[in-house]
Amino acid sequence: MSKQVKIATRGLCKSFAGRPVLDHIDLDIMTGESHVIIGLSGAGKSVLLKCILGLIRPDAGSVFVNGENWCALSAEARLSRMRCIGVVFQGAALFDSLPVWRNVAFVLLQQGMAERQARARAEEVLDWVGLPNIADKMPAELSGGMKKRVGLARAFCHRPEIILYDEPLSGLDPVMSDVIITLMTRLHEEHRVTSLTIAHNMNLVRKFADRVSMLYNGKIHQQLPRDQVDQCQDPVFRQFVEGRAHGPMQVLTEKRKGGSR
Ligand SMILES: Nc1ncnc2c1ncn2[C@@H]1O[C@H](COP(=O)(O)OP(=O)(O)OP(=O)(O)O)[C@@H](O)[C@H]1O
Ligand SMILES: [Mg+2]
Repeated sequence: MSKQVKIATRGLCKSFAGRPVLDHIDLDIMTGESHVIIGLSGAGKSVLLKCILGLIRPDAGSVFVNGENWCALSAEARLSRMRCIGVVFQGAALFDSLPVWRNVAFVLLQQGMAERQARARAEEVLDWVGLPNIADKMPAELSGGMKKRVGLARAFCHRPEIILYDEPLSGLDPVMSDVIITLMTRLHEEHRVTSLTIAHNMNLVRKFADRVSMLYNGKIHQQLPRDQVDQCQDPVFRQFVEGRAHGPMQVLTEKRKGGSR
């Protein structure tokens, strides 16, 4: 495996109730790359992310980070390695009982950093995401877009090498979506963060992805650099990109004969 590969999966398999969701997935995410995973709802994108994070145990296969097989590590060793990763969860997943700054500085506080220092860093990253003066607010006082930005601030507060994003734009208006894409791009470019992003939003793919992989039927169906996304003629890929209900992917159940309800 090349030294340039930051995250790799080899032969990753996961089934639920006998249905394969991930079927021998081999994926390489290069150092400094922004890699975006697309695919239908239920395709297994979040399961893939959770396997990489160790939140779901794969049935077979391995996950390598910086060349080390994380599936072969003890739970304790894996936890210590996790510090190199920041995660932006689909819902912001903030702790409701903690003020914003404690949410943002959560990993730093866990690592034993002094409160004053951790708070100063949390305020710095909150400022960076355009939310100064909210350190003492509670999550319930924030809008959805603010929560997303707090989630982003939390993901990179401890300066991880890798950020995993699970649908970072879900539930956001187009303007706030662009704000988040801009922040993600700045993190990627200014801090050389390697990222793996699950997305449905083609605007995010076109603006943020270096490469895009489409997950379909448990496999990586297509993998393309961003500049080939609009030229790709694969019918399954096109159906997704164009957002059509009809096409080779069976999304709707067939109409009953005679068309009656
Ligand atoms: N813990 C679990 N137990 C049983 N089935 C699960 C579990 N987690 C996921 N699944 C199933 O695996 C499949 C893939 O789920 P996953 O959450 O990865 O989809 P997704 O591609 O992230 O979809 P979406 O775009 O809607 O978030 C689904 O059929 C889901 O029901
Ligand atoms: Mg998902």
